Amino acid sequence: MNRLGQLLRTTTFRLTAVFILIFIVFSVLLLAFISFQSSIVIQRQQGADIDREVTELQSIESKQGMRAVAFAVDQLAAQPGPGIYYLGDQTGQMIVGNVNDFPPAVLRQEGTHSFDYSRSRPFGADPNDDNQFHGHAVVRSVDLTSGFVLVVGRDVVERRGFTAIIFQGFFAGVLGILALSIIAGAVTARRVLRRIDAINATSSIIMAGNMSERVPVTKRNDEFDGLATNLNAMLDRIEKLMQGLKEVTDNVAHDLKTPLTRLRNKAESALRDGAASTEQREALETTITESDKLIRTFNALLMIARAEAGAPSGAFADVDVSAVVADVAELYGPVAEDAGMTLETKVVDGIHLRANRELLGQALVNLVDNAMKYGEPAATGGGKIIVGVRPEADRIVIEVSDNGPGIPAEDRERVLERFVRLEKSRTEQGSGLGLSLVAAVARLHKGCFHIDDNAPGVKAVIDLPAG
Ligand SMILES: Nc1ncnc2c1ncn2[C@@H]1O[C@H](COP(=O)(O)OP(=O)(O)OP(=O)(O)O)[C@@H](O)[C@H]1O
Ligand SMILES: [Mg+2]
Repeated sequence: MNRLGQLLRTTTFRLTAVFILIFIVFSVLLLAFISFQSSIVIQRQQGADIDREVTELQSIESKQGMRAVAFAVDQLAAQPGPGIYYLGDQTGQMIVGNVNDFPPAVLRQEGTHSFDYSRSRPFGADPNDDNQFHGHAVVRSVDLTSGFVLVVGRDVVERRGFTAIIFQGFFAGVLGILALSIIAGAVTARRVLRRIDAINATSSIIMAGNMSERVPVTKRNDEFDGLATNLNAMLDRIEKLMQGLKEVTDNVAHDLKTPLTRLRNKAESALRDGAASTEQREALETTITESDKLIRTFNALLMIARAEAGAPSGAFADVDVSAVVADVAELYGPVAEDAGMTLETKVVDGIHLRANRELLGQALVNLVDNAMKYGEPAATGGGKIIVGVRPEADRIVIEVSDNGPGIPAEDRERVLERFVRLEKSRTEQGSGLGLSLVAAVARLHKGCFHIDDNAPGVKAVIDLPAG
């Protein structure tokens, strides 16, 4: 149904519909013109026939007398067809003919008359046909020299029948063309839709993170292929730019880390050896702390870059995810206790996955670290952190939740970006890269990461495909 709706909404289909409409309007006008013209011609023809017969009968009367006229009229009246004949007096006393129940004016006045009638069968029709019949007749009445009235006419039924045939033909034709046009429109629209679907499918794959996917190009070299070629060229360019940008970031992180580490170590040894003044010692200590922070940031950046580059397949191994989660919980349990919080585990045992153990562990550590840093309920204190992993249909769900102030719904996407920290967290140490790594690791494992509301608190969910 949806597919049909989509088809009906395409431009091709609408254009076809407009075309059909124009066609029908045009055909109706044409038909009206044809039937009008032909009915005029037939009318003239019938008029001429009537006149000819009247003249002939009049000349028979003048040459051969009344008896010959009566004989001729009798013969004409006996023929099947739309002919109407009457020979008699003005009161309707018929000598010969096939009709005598005319409107009174016909017999009393010479000239051409036309009138509607209703009787059990059309004039001149098969006498056994007994359907009630509505008709229209055109007759000419003349007074003969002998004093009798001669009426010659035609039943117009035949003419109407002709028009009806034109109309029938027309409707059959229009219906046929309508059906054909709908089929043609649907077929064309479907072809167009299929090409657009291909482009849509490709863009979805690219949006899902596979930048190397390209729009298929056919050999037809039509406008869709033109569009596809341009889109592909654009994608190539974007991919190159992104690649370049990533390389620069990675290189900067890498190249700055070494001199920074050297600087830090120098400061440390200066602090160890020298009997410096208190201020100098303090300056050196600050230098070391700041360097440590920067080194941590670079490490985090490099780890994210690694995860995003798609860690080499050698780094993927069969990992006991349950054990990793339990280890992290065991490691951080005491730390949480020191901070006045409790750390609980909800681990379903024996969950295995092909994964990068180190990156997965680091992602989990980042989440637990956040829960400890930001998950303390302001009012009551003594936050409760729950770390868990469970299988769910064909997926593996890793969750870290706390009961702290939580993250407002409008910020839950934003905090996954690099260097984003919420205003209220500025007092805590950190560089805003923790969640970025979690998201990158989830993507690396073809899964996704999102933050839910734990009401109150944060529920951070890593959702990975089990296969
Ligand atoms: N459990 C949580 N409760 C409340 N806010 C949180 C929670 N986890 C993260 N946030 C918010 O999201 C921001 C980003 O978190 P992220 O882990 O990426 O960076 P960080 O913790 O500030 O620094 P880093 O992890 O690099 O040391 C945090 O600064 C904080 O504002
Ligand atoms: Mg963090």
